[in-house]
Amino acid sequence: MIGVGMRSTRRSLAARLTAAGAGLVLLLTAAACSAGDDTDAATVEVFTWWAEGGEKAGLDALVSRFTADCPGQQFTDGVVAGGAGINAKQVLTARLAQDDPPDTFQVHAGAELTDHIDAGQVQDLTAEYDAWGLRQALPEGLVDDLTVNGKIYSVPANVHRANVVWTNPQVLSGAGIHTTPKTITAFLRDLEKLRKSGIESPLALGRDWTQLMLLEAVLISKLGAEKFSGLFTGETSWSSSAVSTGIRDFGKLVSYSNADRDAMDWPDAERLLIDGKAGYQVMGDWEAADLEAKGFKAYDWFTFPGNGEVFQWLADSFVLAEGAPNPEGTKCWLKTVASAEGQGAFNAAKGSIPARTDAITPAGTVLSSYQQSAMEDWRTATPVPSCAHGSACSQAWQNAVNNALSAYSTTQRSTTALHQDLIAAANQFIKQE
Ligand code: GAL
Repeated sequence: MIGVGMRSTRRSLAARLTAAGAGLVLLLTAAACSAGDDTDAATVEVFTWWAEGGEKAGLDALVSRFTADCPGQQFTDGVVAGGAGINAKQVLTARLAQDDPPDTFQVHAGAELTDHIDAGQVQDLTAEYDAWGLRQALPEGLVDDLTVNGKIYSVPANVHRANVVWTNPQVLSGAGIHTTPKTITAFLRDLEKLRKSGIESPLALGRDWTQLMLLEAVLISKLGAEKFSGLFTGETSWSSSAVSTGIRDFGKLVSYSNADRDAMDWPDAERLLIDGKAGYQVMGDWEAADLEAKGFKAYDWFTFPGNGEVFQWLADSFVLAEGAPNPEGTKCWLKTVASAEGQGAFNAAKGSIPARTDAITPAGTVLSSYQQSAMEDWRTATPVPSCAHGSACSQAWQNAVNNALSAYSTTQRSTTALHQDLIAAANQFIKQE
């Protein structure tokens, strides 16, 4: 629910996660592990949407640690491909409804996790937090913020940033663009320049949830951090002229994107950038690790124009599912996710920031320059949550917004109709929650 109580919890969660970044110490250590070779191992089904590229590299790094740390336990991959869990969440919902839960599943901290707690689908991990010393390892207060009715239900693995624009600098310089746009107007001007230079669809865009990321970034620019966050707590009206101007700007930005966007997941849109068919893509910072994993190192990035010092955060976490077939093995998975070594290995590959303050990166690992800059920004920037990635809004609200965006993108609807849909969704879910 997004009532007054949750409002303060979420704000405070972001503040505590900021503290995590502030205290971040990455140490180098030798990875002291050897792979297990259990033939009679019990299995732990880990349900994620990390199927390829940098995402899979992150998961693989966790699996290696799990294999070393949890003898007698074997990882079973419950992956369902599709960025932001767009397919996985549907499969998960169906499985949970049929009493067929995986042992553990990936879930965003914040409103999305609250959905699962309210539905009684995840188990209390309070005793494990104490046994594993997690109260000390996670930043001061974060544990308080993860606590719902005196219990803690998930282990956070990382922090990602959503409001980033990725570029193909070669394409930009081909059109004479050598500076970073600081406003949406300047961004639109550069998109027009690119189009005139022969890049027909200069803004690489994908399906619904990627469009929501673009819309959220625009709204951050129009409203600023506090009012943007208020859109999801009921403190900021969705009916204001600032929101309608934002939606019109969003429409203009979409007009510079590829017409086949609704059939594309984020890596497909990313491919347009890599291949020089687009100059820009708005995407979370898993893109840096993914571009690196795909061998495209000549990328650049900037914070979405007009977002200033705002860090739009989201955090992946893992839970012990209610009715998990192998709770003991799952606890060992969760302990690995929670460990300093697990967080170091995972985040180095995934491109995110560890939730722990004392994560240990594997020996010889060099963090990308993007990642280093993100850590610095996390220490200093103002955090706001993300609806596309579950920290700001419930799953039902997100679904409603995604549907509205799809309807806008696939038909000739006006931005006024889109605005009406977004107001209706906010009215429905703010009232309900
Ligand atoms: C987010 C998730 C990230 C990344 C991204 C793209 O929702 O938190 O870890 O996987 O989706 O799939």
